[in-house]
Amino acid sequence: MILVDLDQTSARARNWRNSASDRRNRVDTSGLALLSAQENVAKGGYRVRDPQTLRSHRWLGVNDLRSFGHRSRLRQMGFDQPDWAGKPVIGIINTWSDINACHGHLRSRAEDVKRGVLQAGGFPLELPAMSLAEPFVKPSTMLYRNFLAMEAEELLRSHPIDGAVLMGGCDKTTPGLVMGAISMGIPAIYVPAGPMLRGNWRGETLGSGSDTWKYWDEKRAGNITDADWNEIEGGISRSYGTCMVMGTAATMMAITEAMGLALPGASSIPAPDANHARMCAAAGRRIVDMVWEDLTPARILTPAAFDNAIRVHMAMGGSTNAIIHVVAMARRAGIALDMARFDQISREVPVLANIRPSGKYLMEDFYYAGGLRALMSELAERLDLSCITVTGQPLGELLRGAQVFLRPVIRPLSDPVSTAGATAVLTGNLAPRGCVMKPPAADKRLLKHRGPAIAFEDYNHMAREVERDDLEVTPDHILVLKNAGPKGGPGMPEWGMLPIPRKLVKAGVRDMLRISDGRMSGTSYGACILHVAPESYVGGPLAFVKTGDEIEVDAEARRIHLHVPDEELNRRRAAWTPPPPRYPRGYGAMFSAHIGQADEGCDFDYLLAGERIAEPEIH
Ligand code: FES
Repeated sequence: MILVDLDQTSARARNWRNSASDRRNRVDTSGLALLSAQENVAKGGYRVRDPQTLRSHRWLGVNDLRSFGHRSRLRQMGFDQPDWAGKPVIGIINTWSDINACHGHLRSRAEDVKRGVLQAGGFPLELPAMSLAEPFVKPSTMLYRNFLAMEAEELLRSHPIDGAVLMGGCDKTTPGLVMGAISMGIPAIYVPAGPMLRGNWRGETLGSGSDTWKYWDEKRAGNITDADWNEIEGGISRSYGTCMVMGTAATMMAITEAMGLALPGASSIPAPDANHARMCAAAGRRIVDMVWEDLTPARILTPAAFDNAIRVHMAMGGSTNAIIHVVAMARRAGIALDMARFDQISREVPVLANIRPSGKYLMEDFYYAGGLRALMSELAERLDLSCITVTGQPLGELLRGAQVFLRPVIRPLSDPVSTAGATAVLTGNLAPRGCVMKPPAADKRLLKHRGPAIAFEDYNHMAREVERDDLEVTPDHILVLKNAGPKGGPGMPEWGMLPIPRKLVKAGVRDMLRISDGRMSGTSYGACILHVAPESYVGGPLAFVKTGDEIEVDAEARRIHLHVPDEELNRRRAAWTPPPPRYPRGYGAMFSAHIGQADEGCDFDYLLAGERIAEPEIH
């Protein structure tokens, strides 16, 4: 099934010398017209550049000692003058690795991107970057998101690159790559890895993560056998590609497309689908024109583009992790976005995508239902359709003709999956700078709740206690986990879906109110309050919660309150001793010294938007 054939133009090698006559209008089968650089100039005034203004010209186009070295080394690899002369050099930043199953296809997909770049008259060079495989990287990939962002930025800056193709998808790779590209500021297009196929166990559809948590509890409760569990392990991940529920990966891929940084429809294509390879080639073609047009992220990422992304996040029932990443991306772009904006928009935009963990279906179904273009067309009246995307065209043009094909999967505004809003931002004396919750994924009785806390000082403490059969706990207790934040985790691990104590699991309890300064996987669910800021490790109020304290949560009122008098809290604060540093040296020490809190996007203070960094000198 082809929903969006992004670009079926015939292959045509182009260069500056023949560009005026050689660039043609390209129309895909769904009616999307991707304009050539020349046409964008005519329509919107983007300029077509002289090849001597390309960054790569400083390395390759001049005639001095150093450029001799650059060219001779390219020749050492078998390239020659016609490969690069007067052409944009396109850096393909690829997060493929042997240990990242979500990106297992990106090695060959990079070849599809190169094919597109060559067709359009560019010179592709692949630059590998940190892969950040979510299941394997410890203590948390979040510790390394900014590392990847720095790597992407500096790979582009230090090499003769004129435009970038960013290949990623597994959770932190999308924000890491995009943050780096924003800071670097050259034209960039994002190529999402796409979701894997549905999981399967004895004919039952399995969703990444979500069904792992579900069946783990069933195993703890003695409802399934070790053999069942082993079969589930073999059936839950059936192909390469990202998690196929509305986890962080699917959310970030969609959000990045909604911001305008990917080709229309790209984020919904399942990884193994042949349309994915064609999308990669189309992205390769498009980035070449983007260089000629000087269509940089700064021209695309306006405040309205971020609002569009947040609206899509809400309509998708997206992962809470996206809040941190979108705030970070916006701040890299010099836009002062905060969590309050998410809360505002969540009250305006209902959940339309019926995808797990908030809904019933999976990303493969979402694609067959029409994908992101269909969802955005349902939301069109609430989007700013004038925003320009990597295509150079306004969003309104790109949504023309989009349709919903499977109504149970993508619902209309008049009959949403949930009106509660995908994300609620709560504040109160326990979280003065905010915390977040995903109401559609929680047991409704817990959205307004008051109960006694059981406080755990760290993950190991919690992990021991929840397995105790003599733990004094009822379904009305509130589990509190400390030291899971950006500095305390460290790296704000996805520990926020605290396990239900075994004693209660056996009794059939499947949801409880849980509070932490950590995150939770987008595949997780339940009444989990996350991202409490400031975190306990730096002396936020969460550090002073004791077992037996009463906590009150009201999601509708956006309120969280610790029922402990101020005088008592002040006494506890005065008696509190800051924990020792987590790292004696190395990257971790640098991370701890510069990481921001969750409400600030967890970026490093020295990476935020600021003065433009000069191009490297070549001597
Ligand atoms: Fe890679 Fe979920 S593990 S996207």
